[in-house]
Amino acid sequence: MERTYLKHIAQHEGREVEIRGWLYNKRSSGKILFLIIRDGTGMIQGVVVKSEVAPEVFEAAKSLTQESSLIVRGTVRKEPRSVGGYELSVSELEIIQIAEEYPITPKEHGVEYLMDRRHLWLRSQKQHAIMLVRNELIKATRKFFDDRDFVLIDAPILTPAAAEGTTTLFETDYFEDKAYLSQTGQLYMEAAAMAFGKVYCFGPTFRAEKSKTRRHLMEFWMIEPEIAFADNEENMRIQEEYVSYLVQHALQNCRRELEILERDTSKLENVVPPFPRISYDEAVEILQKNGSEIQWGEDLGGGDETIIANQFDRPVFVHGYPAEIKAFYFKPHPERPEIVLGSDLLAPEGYGEIIGGGERISDLDLLMQRLKEHNLPEENYQWYLDLRRYGSVPHSGFGLGLERTVSWICGLSHLREAIPFPRLLNRLYP
Ligand code: 4AD
Ligand code: MG
Repeated sequence: MERTYLKHIAQHEGREVEIRGWLYNKRSSGKILFLIIRDGTGMIQGVVVKSEVAPEVFEAAKSLTQESSLIVRGTVRKEPRSVGGYELSVSELEIIQIAEEYPITPKEHGVEYLMDRRHLWLRSQKQHAIMLVRNELIKATRKFFDDRDFVLIDAPILTPAAAEGTTTLFETDYFEDKAYLSQTGQLYMEAAAMAFGKVYCFGPTFRAEKSKTRRHLMEFWMIEPEIAFADNEENMRIQEEYVSYLVQHALQNCRRELEILERDTSKLENVVPPFPRISYDEAVEILQKNGSEIQWGEDLGGGDETIIANQFDRPVFVHGYPAEIKAFYFKPHPERPEIVLGSDLLAPEGYGEIIGGGERISDLDLLMQRLKEHNLPEENYQWYLDLRRYGSVPHSGFGLGLERTVSWICGLSHLREAIPFPRLLNRLYP
């Protein structure tokens, strides 16, 4: 008898197989037991008929509780009405462990209750589907950048200095010194771009975000490409190509997951290049016409991002933000130094900013001036300044937030379900 995973069950129609997994649910009609079995890769309905199996097999099946672990053997039959499209006529059943009373039942639970049990909640169908979409987006990311000759370079997590402002730093002791958990791999990617041309990193990043919103995590994963000799125009072209690639990949490879999540995929089908582009100036005008309080010079709030995004059927670039509200490394516009050559990409349907990026300052003196203006200690950035001393070139890059992207593609209402174990303002457990 062949051991198989439910993912591949279609290849075993009519044959005897062994499945190892857990009991998801159970129904009984007296002489027949219906076991919904999951094995991590899929689900199947196992049918145990009292008159067709040994009495101990039927008794064992009857004793199974939700999430008990088991090995079943039986014959695979096509059954379009069953979950996954197949059924298993069970002939043998081996119990591995009878589970204690499982705390997550098919009834509704509150989010905090479920988050306290995140280690178990991941087994539930929707959470399971979200993680599979996340996995596919990571696969697609690697393929996208591999196919375009980008080199994956890992950035450090313990860093000596801030890169995205000093208010969201997580500080930790580093022997006699201080270290900060990385807010971004960008500065290291700039070094790597000067060594390899086109690079990217993919890793966890940390921000002590003191506000509680559905768009912020304390720990999130970012994909950060950096390209030597690219300006912000080229940067935006790569972003729209990449984001479209992710969405189309999910539509093709995650059809079942998006169905489980009840995602309206018609809204994702439009996501192809080119994406609309508006300037920050235009954005402020649109927002003021739509009742926002925003004044030129202020950052867009979450509500503002939604108003802008709702004007379009695909993600939209907002470029030319005021230098005042952006990080120290952004290159100023040559004719209007009060704005920068950078852009945010806003996702449709109110999912907000999924990418921030831009052209970096390549001039040594200007960069040193910016560090001063931002009260950043020059000695910690000497290595970064070196990149402007030894063969400085124009370069650009961006960072895509994985959880924001997963959340948008899956149609989730909060970022906390887009990561296996979320770190939130009020949550470090489990
Ligand atoms: O706009 P941000 O802060 O840009 C950077 O960090 C640049 N250094 C990236 C680069 O150019 N290499 O963050 C980039 C993206 C945001 O657009 C958002 O998707 C995500 O990271 N992000 C967060 N996601 C979840 N929780 C948070 N607290 C996030 N902060 C940023
Ligand atoms: Mg940003």
